[in-house]
Amino acid sequence: MLSHTQLSSAMQRAITLAQRGPSDDINPQVGCVIIDGAGSIVAEGYHAGSGSDHAEVAALKNLDPQLNPVALTAVVTLEPCNHTGTTPPCVVALHTSGIGTIVYGQPDLGQHSSGGATELFARGHRVVGGVESEATARLLRGWHQRTEQTRGRVIAKWAQSLDGRLAAADGSSQWITGAKARRHVHLQRALADIVVTTSATVAADNPALTARDEHGDLLVAPQDQPLPVIFGTSDVDNNAAIHQHPALAWRGFDRAPQFSGRDLGSQLTALAEYVDGAPRVLLEAGPRFTTAVLAEQLANELLIYTAPLLLGGPHQAVGELGVPTLTDAHKLTFSSIHRLEADTVSTLRKDH
Ligand SMILES: NC(=O)c1ccc[n+]([C@@H]2O[C@H](COP(=O)([O-])OP(=O)(O)OC[C@H]3O[C@@H](n4cnc5c(N)ncnc54)[C@H](OP(=O)(O)O)[C@@H]3O)[C@@H](O)[C@H]2O)c1
Repeated sequence: MLSHTQLSSAMQRAITLAQRGPSDDINPQVGCVIIDGAGSIVAEGYHAGSGSDHAEVAALKNLDPQLNPVALTAVVTLEPCNHTGTTPPCVVALHTSGIGTIVYGQPDLGQHSSGGATELFARGHRVVGGVESEATARLLRGWHQRTEQTRGRVIAKWAQSLDGRLAAADGSSQWITGAKARRHVHLQRALADIVVTTSATVAADNPALTARDEHGDLLVAPQDQPLPVIFGTSDVDNNAAIHQHPALAWRGFDRAPQFSGRDLGSQLTALAEYVDGAPRVLLEAGPRFTTAVLAEQLANELLIYTAPLLLGGPHQAVGELGVPTLTDAHKLTFSSIHRLEADTVSTLRKDH
């Protein structure tokens, strides 16, 4: 596997290439390099503006067909697109090429084009997102503003049984979903700027909240790991794993920041002080906190992992939302649904 330094330097090159494209186009500036197992660049490409090849396709056209694609890594500044616009989806081009690993900087927030990384992950590629996250976010800032895409989002994530339970009647819950779904969670962590959990979940599970690979190693470098933040008034053990999170030392914290107020809306807004721009916040909490966030309609997106199990019983994923009748239901739209071995991952957005 390539080192974080090799991936960062390839991403820096991809950013430089991206800047050759027009900065005021309807499409974003995107660059792509393809590197071999030693980290050497074997092909490059960038997007030269609407109607021209996307960066991934441009790089693939420059690739020597004699090279073994499985050993190669495509490093691209933006998540590969998953839809047919004026050109076919990059996801299909990358999958057809047989390239083993896809690494990207920023998630695609487009209503129709997002979900490419999960599609590639589901099809068996190794996928890493969030590399050089600050630099790639800066690259896209103008495009996000032009297209009114808000990068700052609150994403509520949970893993449940088919009947919406987080645990069996005796409280056993590890693990409801399988290994592939759990690996996908780590990809989502790497894409987040901040991961929020609670004092109760830290006490129950002692989560590390790092983005890790299948070997337990950091999936992305400490500077690209999400900052862990605790919500809740209860004291959190000084020895809790969360306080060892590498993003903390990188940013000069000696322990995870803790928010102990009860005004969720203003506390979630206050998280912006930790990042340059609006943060992408992943919530990894239990049902009481998640329900409170949902009841106040503070989540922009839901990320739900569902296992084909029926558990019944009291441990519901979502509690009382204050919905008296069907017409008052919180309305959402499915952005994507993917199979991850036996499980599914669904992404839903709030209807406006
Ligand atoms: N399946 C999954 O995806 C998943 C994910 C995470 C956790 N879990 C499970 O969830 C269980 C914990 O769930 P839980 O419901 O007991 O705890 P929780 O929802 O994780 O956290 C509840 C705590 O959040 C804090 N909090 C801060 N603001 C709040 C607000 N506005 N409303 C409610 N709480 C607020 C409070 O801490 P203070 O009391 O300290 O003020 C409260 O006690 C664990 O067993 C864990 O394994 C499951």
